[in-house]
Amino acid sequence: MVLWIIGMSGSGKTALGKRVYEELKPGYPNLVFLDGDILREIMGDDLGHTIEDRKKNAGRITRLCKYLDSSGINVIFAVLSLFHESQRWMRENIRDYYEVYIESDLGVLVQRDSKGIYKKAINGEIKNVVGVDIAFPPPLGPDLTIKNDRGLDDLYREGGKIIKSIKPLLRR
Ligand SMILES: Nc1ncnc2c1ncn2[C@@H]1O[C@H](COP(=O)(O)OP(=O)(O)O)[C@@H](O)[C@H]1O
Ligand SMILES: [Mg+2]
Repeated sequence: MVLWIIGMSGSGKTALGKRVYEELKPGYPNLVFLDGDILREIMGDDLGHTIEDRKKNAGRITRLCKYLDSSGINVIFAVLSLFHESQRWMRENIRDYYEVYIESDLGVLVQRDSKGIYKKAINGEIKNVVGVDIAFPPPLGPDLTIKNDRGLDDLYREGGKIIKSIKPLLRR
């Protein structure tokens, strides 16, 4: 099965994904956790953040998910996912696909700004930042939408709900 955790930078995808991963991993050794930044690094950081490069990256992510799934690996992928087309492709190509969307207000993200990208983008120092000069179209049909505008404990509680929902889909 493949769990996609979608959201803008700083929305809490990695925090939530890691939490779910750590809880499930002992019982499911065939589970991997990946995120967009990890994959970019694995691929040798050959892509930038233009729309065109983001499309290429999205193609890599979806194809990798399908390959791993078809090899009996459960995948948790924290992904910004800018393109509805990718989400549609996942639904059509992965039998057990579960999509979580972390909805965020830009104000909260700018305040958190863990990578410092929003401030730089707002000051015009960098381009191609989703939420500033690239619009983020929310996913159209997530299985679960969560808000992450309170503390980490609340976010982790949502992780528990996700685990309950995906357990029947996980492969042994
Ligand atoms: N509800 C929250 N309360 C406090 N800090 C949070 C919360 N959600 C996320 N964070 C922190 O904000 C930063 C960004 O979260 P992260 O999971 O890396 O986001 P993403 O992977 O979506 O970019 C991390 O340092 C994370 O621990
Ligand atoms: Mg992340």
